[in-house]
Amino acid sequence: MAEEAILGYLEKNEQISDSGNFAAERGFDHNDVVNVIKSLHGFRYIDDIKRETWVLTGEGKKYAAEGSPEVQLFLAVPAEGSISKDELQKKLDPAVFKIGCSQAGKNKWVEMGKQVSRKVQNVEDKVKDLLLQVQNGHALSKEEISSLKARKLIVPQTWKGYSVRKGPNYAPKRKKAATDLTRENLQKGDWKELEFKEYNFNAKGQPAEGGHLHPLLKVRKQLKDIFLQMGFEEMPTNNFVESSFWNFDALFQPQQHPARDSHDTFFLEEPSTTRELPEDYVERVKRVHESGGYGSRGYGYEWKREEANKNLLRTHTTAVSSRMLKALAEKPFAPKKYFSIDRVFRNEAVDRTHLAEFHQIEGLVCDRGLTLGDLIGVLHDFFSRLGMSKLRFKPAYNPYTEPSMEIFSYHEGFGKWVEVGNSGMFRPEMLLPMGLPEDVHVIAWGLSLERPTMILYGIDNIRDLFGHKVDLGLIKRNPICRLGIS
Ligand code: PHE
Repeated sequence: MAEEAILGYLEKNEQISDSGNFAAERGFDHNDVVNVIKSLHGFRYIDDIKRETWVLTGEGKKYAAEGSPEVQLFLAVPAEGSISKDELQKKLDPAVFKIGCSQAGKNKWVEMGKQVSRKVQNVEDKVKDLLLQVQNGHALSKEEISSLKARKLIVPQTWKGYSVRKGPNYAPKRKKAATDLTRENLQKGDWKELEFKEYNFNAKGQPAEGGHLHPLLKVRKQLKDIFLQMGFEEMPTNNFVESSFWNFDALFQPQQHPARDSHDTFFLEEPSTTRELPEDYVERVKRVHESGGYGSRGYGYEWKREEANKNLLRTHTTAVSSRMLKALAEKPFAPKKYFSIDRVFRNEAVDRTHLAEFHQIEGLVCDRGLTLGDLIGVLHDFFSRLGMSKLRFKPAYNPYTEPSMEIFSYHEGFGKWVEVGNSGMFRPEMLLPMGLPEDVHVIAWGLSLERPTMILYGIDNIRDLFGHKVDLGLIKRNPICRLGIS
């Protein structure tokens, strides 16, 4: 409708000077008219879209009515003879006098001194003329616009409408332009008559969607680099499902331990049990649990194979460490430094800081004669690379380590000591049944990946970091992070 009206109007008239009036007069919505104008302009049915107009400022309006200050000043100087400057000033408005003096002087219209006299007989009020032209909606040259603009006599008006005239492709009715050359066009030969839409090389393309790394992956990469720089090898952690045997029994964790309850651990329904375990090793583990050995009294309970067979979602990556140490024990001994960063699962109530799954960072060193001093030393080295150089240790308990230590770091931002990890020396009850030499000791530590990531990215609810409630914008926009550089 608006399109017919515009094209129809231009058939008989030279231009539509204001699309706003055009729409109002015909009862169209101005937005619709503007959209049609843009589309017709795209196809060059119409042309000459004007967007900027100028309006007079208060000062400009005054001069348009009363004449420019330079002309007012010129007229106040007598045609013959002269007038004293003081006398002249009394005859004029102070602003007009001030501007008039400088402009009339610049134009060489008057001789300025104590006495003022004319240097020319007649002057033209060009400024007033230009201001009147602007007032009447006429277009001025660039130089004229800039001279009036510099004197703050005009300001641009934000033009909300358009002024249009016929374009090179004008026709009273729009022909639908073809956008594609089809097989039918070629077969029928109608491509000869078709009008094709021109390519718009300035049109924006679809934004390219690349992949984005999750903050956890970025921090994981930084931690992995730190371990690699320290000479650690990565352990294969690509099995979320583990047997209770490797997750607990091999780690000398008794079968009645509360962590082995379904309140704390996710057990698998299908397949509910593991198919095979290394039988002679299972026998040695059973014995150490029941009656000890290697200088230990054991736990003194009846160890059940069915309990060890139960499949679960691994509750810590230490399950992988136990497999790796067992594999080391099967070969002539060579020292090793291992690490892993991967997912673990715990049947926990979800809150601001806990999820039922998270990522664990784990490091271990296996060598002859290692001591607690070595553990403390390696922890200082590792954590200072993370930017945490003030550490404190607190005695703790893990079924598989003795001694065990919780690790605290002084957080400058929070102004307090915060727990950052757990550590210890693996017990002989764990290492000796595997077959490792007696003087081989293993120092190890673990921490979560989520905790440092939340601190680094200023996230205080874990559900904003991980899981189905995460805002994808966070993933797309988050910056890289560098550990140790604060
Ligand atoms: N497995 C422990 C945990 O889940 C971490 C740890 C690893 C502790 C190695 C000591 C030694 O918290």
